[in-house]
Amino acid sequence: MNQSPSPLLLDVQGLSVSFATDRGRVRAIDDVSFQLREGEILSIVGESGSGKSVTLLSLLGLHDPQTTFVDGAVAFRGKHLLQMSEREMRRLRGKEIGLISQDPMTALTPVYTIGWQIAEQIRAHESISARAARKRSIELLGEVGLANPGEAVDRYPHQLSGGMRQRAVIAMALSCNPALLVADEPTTALDVTVQAQVLDLLLRLRKDFGSAIILITHDMGVVAEVADRVNVMYAGRIVERGTTEEVFSHPMHPYSWGLLASIPSLTGKRAERLPAIGGMPPTPESIPAGCGFAPRCRFARGECLSRPPLRRQGDQSALCVLQPSERDALRGSILTLEEPA
Ligand SMILES: Nc1ncnc2c1ncn2[C@@H]1O[C@H](COP(=O)(O)OP(=O)(O)OP(=O)(O)O)[C@@H](O)[C@H]1O
Ligand SMILES: [Mg+2]
Repeated sequence: MNQSPSPLLLDVQGLSVSFATDRGRVRAIDDVSFQLREGEILSIVGESGSGKSVTLLSLLGLHDPQTTFVDGAVAFRGKHLLQMSEREMRRLRGKEIGLISQDPMTALTPVYTIGWQIAEQIRAHESISARAARKRSIELLGEVGLANPGEAVDRYPHQLSGGMRQRAVIAMALSCNPALLVADEPTTALDVTVQAQVLDLLLRLRKDFGSAIILITHDMGVVAEVADRVNVMYAGRIVERGTTEEVFSHPMHPYSWGLLASIPSLTGKRAERLPAIGGMPPTPESIPAGCGFAPRCRFARGECLSRPPLRRQGDQSALCVLQPSERDALRGSILTLEEPA
């Protein structure tokens, strides 16, 4: 990695997201701030429901404005995304920002063939002929592991399986060589060999075009392998952040301890429950005041009923009352816990 920091690409400050529900407004994302530099790979990890997708979709303007309220400031190369018109946002998304969403249908239009959609995206920012764009689409579909790309290119999204659709979305996101690629569980629906190919493609995007990547994944092995930095999310907040090396070698937050202690075996299968932490994460309706993790934290104390302080350790930080001197012993007690049978 180069030593001098590269220019700032994305600056998210105080992002909060709430939803209108039958029982009133509930807050799902609470004061999330983070930055991404050109060419950096940031991974966001956390259990299901912690707010990873809502964070990314809302900063890209992909939320439903009727029911979703987004506050805060998001600057991409100095442009303020939350103030952009739908049209400007759409143009930016197809050109400078690529999205591989968790639900492939967010990115695909049902009424056009996938080949047409990929080719359009290429032609939106490269002056090449329709024929050359089609050829490039077929190549890209082949690169993301779609069998018979020459035939698949003329299919409509509904004529593809879930895994095939995800590959088409990946091909589309890669087609514009974006400055920022947002990848929300890009490999979940794919089999292991294709997962490795797709990760290689993402890394190649950074190597060849200097793209920065925000990668949401449940696979901590992938995080350790590709990410420069990690944000750990819980109940709508970033509870810990740091370089991948820091967070993996000396995590500061008890939630991160549990998450890392629960890394599933090499099969890469997602654990439904985290053996080192009992219970389940809260929904936005039930996030407690104070520390959102306190009800599941075996080290919680009275102070945790108030909003936790931000403790720093170099560039790493965590939202937790624990003092550095307490952490090692407490973490040790989690690591020696036996998994329930
Ligand atoms: N439109 C909505 N209205 C109300 N609640 C919502 C809405 N969208 C998401 N939520 C809730 O917000 C919380 C965060 O959801 P989000 O999709 O960001 O989770 P996630 O971290 O991406 O989880 P997963 O790993 O399962 O993808 C969840 O409790 C979810 O049910
Ligand atoms: Mg999600």
